[in-house]
Amino acid sequence: MEHNIVHYAKNRHTVKAYDPSKKISDENIEKIKELLRFSASSTNAQPWHFILASTDEGKERIAKANEDMFPFNNPSILAASHVVIFCSRLSIEDDHLSKVLEQEDADGRFPATEHKEQMDAGRKFFINIHKHDLKDVQHWMDKQVYLNIGAFLLGVSTLGIDATPMEGIDVKSIDEEFGLREQGYTSLVAVTLGYHDEEKDYNAKLPKSRLPYDYILTEV
Ligand SMILES: Cc1cc2nc3c(=O)[nH]c(=O)nc-3n(C[C@H](O)[C@H](O)[C@H](O)COP(=O)(O)O)c2cc1C
Repeated sequence: MEHNIVHYAKNRHTVKAYDPSKKISDENIEKIKELLRFSASSTNAQPWHFILASTDEGKERIAKANEDMFPFNNPSILAASHVVIFCSRLSIEDDHLSKVLEQEDADGRFPATEHKEQMDAGRKFFINIHKHDLKDVQHWMDKQVYLNIGAFLLGVSTLGIDATPMEGIDVKSIDEEFGLREQGYTSLVAVTLGYHDEEKDYNAKLPKSRLPYDYILTEV
């Protein structure tokens, strides 16, 4: 049966225990990668990087790095089919901005040369505000990554895949384990993916809880 997007928003849930015998198909992994890549971001800056752990070894490396600070998330990291670590850039300079611009050009975004120049100037205008006026460029990049995470959680649920978003990760230790900071990235959030354990996942049995409209919504 076809469901509309609200069905998925209301029926997805944060998994607390995975069935380790259930693995995501290769076909769905390709779709998951497309979701990561095709998320929107301000000025199309795409200030992100992802680690996709599909092997036991990869998941064990994440869990080991996480053990001291957030051991309660590790059973899910180890039992999930896959784990995605969402990372943010540590800086946004001309090398990255040129990479984005040239990709847009290669993808046919600039019917005329001046469009390319306008795009480059427009993007730098926004980014310079965050760098020099608001002085929140790291926070701004992190916000783009969070936007990706939000779309991702809803997206994977439409594929029938369960997930757990985790801010409870030891970012310093994970960055060290994967040499992320040397590459110009830092980890932000993990999302474990797979299929929940029917018996042990208590959250699947609980009703959702959300604040009421009279508190969260003003309609004018
Ligand atoms: C950014 C973010 C970080 C979260 N971090 C954790 C976490 O570290 N561990 C965990 O079990 N749940 C985590 N959660 C799950 C939330 O507790 C959960 O989304 C919330 O209670 C709403 O429940 P639902 O996702 O089942 O609708 C996180 C959720 C978000 C969006």
